Amino acid sequence: MDQLKDLINQAKSEFSQCQSLPDLDHAKAKFIGKSGAITEAMRSLSSIPKEEKPKVGAEINSIKQEIEALLAARRNAIQSQAMQSQLESELIDVTLPGNKQSAGSLHPISLTLQRVEMLFRSIGFDVATGPEIEDDYHNFTALNIPESHPARAMHDTFYIGKHVLRTHTSPVQVRYMKAHQPPLKIISPGRVYRVDSDATHSPMFHQVEGLWIDEKASFANLKGLLQDFLQSFFEDESLIIRFRPSFFPFTEPSAEIDMSWNDGWLEIGGCGMVHPEVLKQVEIDHDNFQGFAFGLGVERLAMLKFGINDLRPFFNNDLRFLKQFSR
Ligand code: DAH
Repeated sequence: MDQLKDLINQAKSEFSQCQSLPDLDHAKAKFIGKSGAITEAMRSLSSIPKEEKPKVGAEINSIKQEIEALLAARRNAIQSQAMQSQLESELIDVTLPGNKQSAGSLHPISLTLQRVEMLFRSIGFDVATGPEIEDDYHNFTALNIPESHPARAMHDTFYIGKHVLRTHTSPVQVRYMKAHQPPLKIISPGRVYRVDSDATHSPMFHQVEGLWIDEKASFANLKGLLQDFLQSFFEDESLIIRFRPSFFPFTEPSAEIDMSWNDGWLEIGGCGMVHPEVLKQVEIDHDNFQGFAFGLGVERLAMLKFGINDLRPFFNNDLRFLKQFSR
C-alpha cells in the first residue's frame, strides 16, 4: 500500500518536469496507461484475499483520482504557460506610429489630360484614341501630306519598317472620320514622337487633337471654343487668344494659336478649317459638311498650369518632383 501511495509523489515529480502536452501524455502512460502502475495494481487485486479487496480497491481508486487531478492541474499549467508565451511573443505596441504606404499619385501630364478631357466632355465632345504605331497613310498621306511633300521633312519621324511612331495626334482625325458620320465632336489626347531632344523638346510628348465637323462649324466658332476652353482650363476670364496665319497641309486656312500670358503671347498649338482634300479622303461630303481641327501641346499646358519652366522633369521619374503633385 505504501508503495502505491508513493506513486502519488512519483507522479507529482514526473508531471512537474513535463513542459509540453506530448511529454505529459508520455508520463501519464506510466501511471494510468494500459500497462501503467495503477492499472497493474487493479489487475493484481485478483490475487489478494477476498475480504481485503473492497478496501484495497477503494484505495487504488482514490490514488488514481488523485493522479488524474495532478495530471489535469499540470495540463492546465502547461496550456496557460503556452498561451502566456504566445501572447508575449506576439505583443504589439498599439501606440507606435503606423508604417504609411504611399498610394502614389497621378503624373502632372495625366492630371492635365484629365482636366482637358473633363472640360471638353462637359461641352459634348467624345474622347477618341488611335494607335501610336501608325502607318504612313494615316500619319501623312490621308492628311494631305503626299510622299516627297516638304511637310514630311518638318516632322522628324521615327520609322519602324513601313510604320512610323505617329508624329502627331492628327491621324486619329482620319481614323475617326472614316468610322463615324458627321456631325461629330471629338478630342484625341495621347503620346506622339519626334526625333528631337533638348531642354524644351522630348522625343516623346503629348498632344490633344480636336475635331468638330457639322454643316456649319466655322473659323469663328473655332476661335471662340479655344478661348473658352483656355479660360476654363486656367481659370482666368481675362485670358485671350490670337490666331497667327500659318500653314498645315490638312487645314485651310491654318493658324497658330497664341495665348495671352504675362503681358506677352505664348504659342500653344495649331488649328484651322479641315481641308476639303482630307474630307475627300475620309469620304465625307464636303459640299454639305465642314469643320475645324486643332492640336494643342499638352506639356506646354501642364508647364503653364503648374508653373514649371523645364520640360525634362516630366520624364526623369524623380520622385522629389512627382510627389509635389500628389493630392
Ligand atoms: N498636327 C499638327 C502638329 O503636330 C498640329 C495641328 C495643327 C493639329 C493644325 C491640327 C490642326 O488639328 O488643325 O504640328
